[in-house]
Amino acid sequence: MNPAWQRKDLLSLRELGVEELRQVLNTAKVFKEILGRPIKKVPSLQGRTVVNLFVEPSTRTKISFELAAVRLSADVVSLDKDSSSIRKGESLKDTAKNLEALQAGIIVIRHRSAGAAQFLAERLQASVINAGDGAHEHPTQGLLDVFTIQERLGKIEGVRVLIVGDIIHSRVARSNLWALLKLGAKVKLVGPSTLLPREFSELGAEVTYDLDAELEQADVINLLRIQHERQVQARLPSVGEYSGFFGLNLERFKRCKPAVLLMHPGPVHRGVEIASELADGAQSVILDQVTNGLAVRMAVLYLVSGGRGLGEA
Ligand code: CP
Repeated sequence: MNPAWQRKDLLSLRELGVEELRQVLNTAKVFKEILGRPIKKVPSLQGRTVVNLFVEPSTRTKISFELAAVRLSADVVSLDKDSSSIRKGESLKDTAKNLEALQAGIIVIRHRSAGAAQFLAERLQASVINAGDGAHEHPTQGLLDVFTIQERLGKIEGVRVLIVGDIIHSRVARSNLWALLKLGAKVKLVGPSTLLPREFSELGAEVTYDLDAELEQADVINLLRIQHERQVQARLPSVGEYSGFFGLNLERFKRCKPAVLLMHPGPVHRGVEIASELADGAQSVILDQVTNGLAVRMAVLYLVSGGRGLGEA
């Protein structure tokens, strides 16, 4: 029997224990099986209202949270910055309180400020799910990445994962790091020193600055997007130079394990972080990550709504 999920919110993977991580992954596995059936809907969230409050742009996360809520039979509405009264100066707290007054039971929030999800969680009775807050965390991305590795390799423990690129600005890197380390993976971070402070080694990962020296060992290579919107220009001489040292091109790929998994959270800058042929190639699981995001987000919506974990205990 699974222990009951106790959390009202999902704010970070740093705060989750190993059993909670497993509970989400096992529940997502059940939902993925349901999504393969002719009738993909279940009644778990019937009568509940999910609001997606996206104050930063998104394609994958926003659409998959919307679809996840629909597949769980919730009522779902989405609000973004440009079409909301946030543009007229309404505060985040007032916006969320108004959504709650309209009986939103779950608010999924993406925001440019680290801590925005926690800020709301402490002030609302509604469940709050962090869909990415500044450079802090992107917990459902971390969960779907771990789910994809487990699905492909059958395990996380002992798997050698290389996370490459703009680590300092990356909430994806932080969420991956917490989940992978707790589940026993061996994680190395690699990138230019301007985008990868040595302090990251204090979190439990190895920090290195030479991608070429790491390629042969990696079971998984997760290539991060250069986050231009987080003012990265000042930290890089040029995108071309970055790509020369840290882009996964065809030459570098030849030195990787034949079964290596190539991951990217998207949106992909083809020819910068990864060669286009590799992004579309046989070792790429980039679109599997997106597909798995739906099952993982169904699992998270289900658990914060009071559902017991599904799947193996
Ligand atoms: N990976 C990710 O968060 O993509 P979106 O910004 O499109 O949601």
